[in-house]
Amino acid sequence: MIHWSNNFFNDLYYRFDQLKTDNIINIKNFINHFCNQNEVICDLCCGYGRIAFKLANENYKYLTGIDKSSELLQIAKKTNKEQNTNINFMCKDVRFLEKGDFDLVFFFGTSFGYYNDRDNNRIIKSINNILKPGGLFLFQQVNNPQNLFIKEEDSKYTFKKQSFFHEDERIYEGEYSFHNKFNQKNISYKFNIHLYNKDELIDMFTNNGFNSIEYWGGFNFESFGKDSKDLIIKSLKL
Ligand SMILES: C[S@@+](CC[C@H](N)C(=O)[O-])C[C@H]1O[C@@H](n2cnc3c(N)ncnc32)[C@H](O)[C@@H]1O
Repeated sequence: MIHWSNNFFNDLYYRFDQLKTDNIINIKNFINHFCNQNEVICDLCCGYGRIAFKLANENYKYLTGIDKSSELLQIAKKTNKEQNTNINFMCKDVRFLEKGDFDLVFFFGTSFGYYNDRDNNRIIKSINNILKPGGLFLFQQVNNPQNLFIKEEDSKYTFKKQSFFHEDERIYEGEYSFHNKFNQKNISYKFNIHLYNKDELIDMFTNNGFNSIEYWGGFNFESFGKDSKDLIIKSLKL
């Protein structure tokens, strides 16, 4: 069976994501806090590069974006040309990365928990592998998502997002539906994410070669609590 994430992150996802009101300035400031413009940085599961481009515009010199969605990477590469930026975008599966020597890897936007436990663990090992010793790993996922039903539209599509968070198992699942206003066609894509809790993640990180762990509940360094919007974890490769 094809994994949901193979189809989900496409041109339509990109259109819908444009309507998002995330405060990307806070994300950029958070990253700024931990590194400088000369460090070698990886935006892991970068999508169409919304965060990497913010850093490139702040004169970060050595940026790589890794993702497996060829559709989103195509958009990223087009933006790279248009903005005359020099981000190195690569199409790779995060589960199987070769050895690298990044100073910093950030893994933001709830890009984890898509697979089974074995593969999710493999991802953390893989991230450890692409960092240099002492390198920094920054992780962020939504912590306590609300059940949602939202409807929005742009010039061509009506979008609906429906999502549910099953608190007991910490499964976050839902569906994006798109109605093309011109040809009246409908298409929908489901997602299903295991939002591991803080302690599970810390165990996973520790068991895969990370230490010096700190965590917060938001990109403004808010303390983490059960109801925090985000879970952000910082750790170092041993
Ligand atoms: C929710 S998006 C977040 C994108 C980006 N980090 C952001 O905040 O805008 C998750 C991204 O993970 C990518 N992804 C999912 N599974 C992957 C895998 N096995 N290897 C590489 N990328 C993957 C998807 O293609 C998608 O771009």
